Amino acid sequence: MVCAWNSSWGNKGVSMKNSVEVKNISFSYGKTEILNDLSLDIKEGEFMVLLGPSGCGKTTLLNCIAGLLDLTDGQIWIEDDNVTWKEPKDRHIGMVFQSYALYPSMTVEKNLSFGLRMMGTAKDLINEKIKKAANLLQINELLKRKPSQLSGGQRQRVAIGRALVRDAKVFLFDEPLSNLDAKLRAELRYEIKKLHRDLSNTMIYVTHDQIEAMTLADRISVMKDGLIQQLDTPKQIYNKPANLFVAGFIGSPSMNFLNAKFKKSNQNIIVGNKQIDISKYENINKLINDQEVVFGIRPENINIEKNENSIQCKVELVEPMGADTLVWTSFEGNPISIRLEGSSNFNLNDEISISFDINKSSIFDSKSEERI
Ligand SMILES: Nc1ncnc2c1ncn2[C@@H]1O[C@H](COP(=O)(O)OP(=O)(O)OP(=O)(O)O)[C@@H](O)[C@H]1O
Ligand SMILES: [Mg+2]
Repeated sequence: MVCAWNSSWGNKGVSMKNSVEVKNISFSYGKTEILNDLSLDIKEGEFMVLLGPSGCGKTTLLNCIAGLLDLTDGQIWIEDDNVTWKEPKDRHIGMVFQSYALYPSMTVEKNLSFGLRMMGTAKDLINEKIKKAANLLQINELLKRKPSQLSGGQRQRVAIGRALVRDAKVFLFDEPLSNLDAKLRAELRYEIKKLHRDLSNTMIYVTHDQIEAMTLADRISVMKDGLIQQLDTPKQIYNKPANLFVAGFIGSPSMNFLNAKFKKSNQNIIVGNKQIDISKYENINKLINDQEVVFGIRPENINIEKNENSIQCKVELVEPMGADTLVWTSFEGNPISIRLEGSSNFNLNDEISISFDINKSSIFDSKSEERI
C-alpha cells in the first residue's frame, strides 16, 4: 500500500509498514542524559532525515539504531525483529559515516569486499555484488586504485558502496557529505536520491544541512536537545513549523519574526507603534484578545506593493544572489529580509512599501512558542 507522503520521485512511494521502530529509548553518557524516552517509526522504503543543530543527539540516535551504543531504556525493532541487544552486524543495516573510514592500504575493490570476505561470502557472489554497486555508483574505473588516489567525492562513493554490497535492509548515513565542497555535495546528494529511487531501501540520514534535508527527505525529524520537535514532510515543516525553534532553524535567510500583541476587536496585531491586519490568518479564531504573539513571515512572502495594509520602510542593504535578490529593511526596530527576483533593482535608502502574505505567515504564542 502506498502512503500519503509519496516519495518526491513519485514512482515507488513509501509503504505503510514500519521498517525501523524506535520505542521509548533513553541513552546517557555517564550522568548526562542525551536521549530521553524518544520514539520514532520509520516506514519501509522511507527516506527519513534527522535534522538539528550540532550536539542535539542525531549521531547518538543513529548509533543507538545501529547498535554501536547500548540503550539505558527502550527498544529498537528493525523489520519486525527486536534487535535491542543484537550486535550491529546482525541488524541488517549498512552504515556510512562522515569520515570515509576506508582502509588506506587496500584497493577500492578490497575495501568494498572486506565485510563480505569476513563473513565468508562466496567469491562469485562477492564479485557480482561489487560489480552491481560499482555500476550504481559509477566507480567501475576506480576499483584497482587505493583511497589515496581518489578525490573526496570518489572516496565517499566507495564508502557508500561498502554499505551497499552488504544488502542491508536499512541504510544509516551520518553526515556523509559534510567533508565535500559545495559542488560535490550537490552532485552526490543527487546520486543518493537516485540511489534511493532505484533501491527503495529504508534510509535514515543525519545532517545539519537543511538543503540536504529538504531535498532528500520523505519526512524530516527536527531535533533539539535530544527531543523531536516536529516530524513531518519537508513542505509541512517549511510552511507550518510547529514552533519557533523549527521556524527559525529551517529556511535561509531565516523567517522574519516580530513581537506583537493581538487585538481581537479589529483583528490586528500591534507591533511597536504600528498595526498589521491579520484577519486572513488561517487560525485567527484561536487567538485571544491581548495575547502576546510572535508574528513570523518568510522572506519570499513579503511583497513590494502599496495597498491599504502596506508598510513604509527604507532599503538598508541589498544582496544580489543571482537567481534572487535579498533586500533588507526594518520595521519598528526589527530587521526584515525580503526575497525578490534576481532582476529586481533596488538601491540603498530607497523608500519602499511592503505587505505581508498573511495566509502564508505563522503566528506563535510568545510563552509556549507553539504555532497557533
Ligand atoms: N563519547 C561521549 N561522551 C560524552 N558525551 C558525548 C559523547 N559523544 C557525544 N556526547 C555528547 O552528546 C550530545 C549529543 O551528541 P551527538 O554526537 O549525538 O550530536 P549531533 O547531533 O550528532 O551533533 P553534530 O551535528 O555536531 O554531529 C552532545 O552534547 C555531545 O557533547
Ligand atoms: Mg553527529
